[in-house]
Amino acid sequence: MAGIVDALANLALSGVGAFVGFNVTLRAQNHLQPHPFPWRFADLLEHPWRVQALDPGQTLDIHGLTAGMTVLDLGCGTGLFTRTAAHMVGENGRVHGVDLQAAMLERARRSLAEAGVFERVALHHCGAYDLPLADDEADLAIVVSTLGEIPDKPAALNELRRVLKPGARLGVTDEFYNPSFTMPGTVRRLAEEAGFRSLGSTSTAICYHQVYINAK
Ligand SMILES: C[S@@+](CC[C@H](N)C(=O)[O-])C[C@H]1O[C@@H](n2cnc3c(N)ncnc32)[C@H](O)[C@@H]1O
Repeated sequence: MAGIVDALANLALSGVGAFVGFNVTLRAQNHLQPHPFPWRFADLLEHPWRVQALDPGQTLDIHGLTAGMTVLDLGCGTGLFTRTAAHMVGENGRVHGVDLQAAMLERARRSLAEAGVFERVALHHCGAYDLPLADDEADLAIVVSTLGEIPDKPAALNELRRVLKPGARLGVTDEFYNPSFTMPGTVRRLAEEAGFRSLGSTSTAICYHQVYINAK
């Protein structure tokens, strides 16, 4: 019996070790050369464990999303947060989902149509440095597990400030196991350098949330 317990414990430790080693390697690679989360792994973004641990409705509440807002979801991926945002903004709101990868946007388009909220959403195939919104158009921008994938973070934050109204909010969330995880202190420094003012932050066992105001 003791032998079986030992064998199982060794197996579990090997699994944890392999995961940590793999994650550290991916992080180092991403740090040296930030790159988009591969669309082949898009299912992971919608995995029930992730959705349970990082509840989109709670996250968007923390970011300050309310009905009627115009919301930008930068790095929308499969549309996990875009969908919930579209429900929460209601009939008078609008959500813009932006992503570099066409395959991610196609998944987002399908899931938004299935959820019956596609008419409230515009999906844009473009990058973070040239957002398809007018100056001062958005009430809230959300950046979930995406900032670390963007090579020129100051340029992206400046562009976010351009499209956000004065006094509008920026919500940044990142997951500790994300290969492109960005340290909260780094995000805060870069956001403040770009002209955002912190309204506070919270964290859970798996992620942190930060909320900023566009101090134009
Ligand atoms: C880890 S996924 C997160 C997706 C979604 N925010 C979520 O949490 O489910 C990051 C997404 O950001 C996109 N992305 C990375 N760099 C980007 C950039 N410079 N401009 C726009 N999208 C980008 C990737 O293509 C990918 O779909």
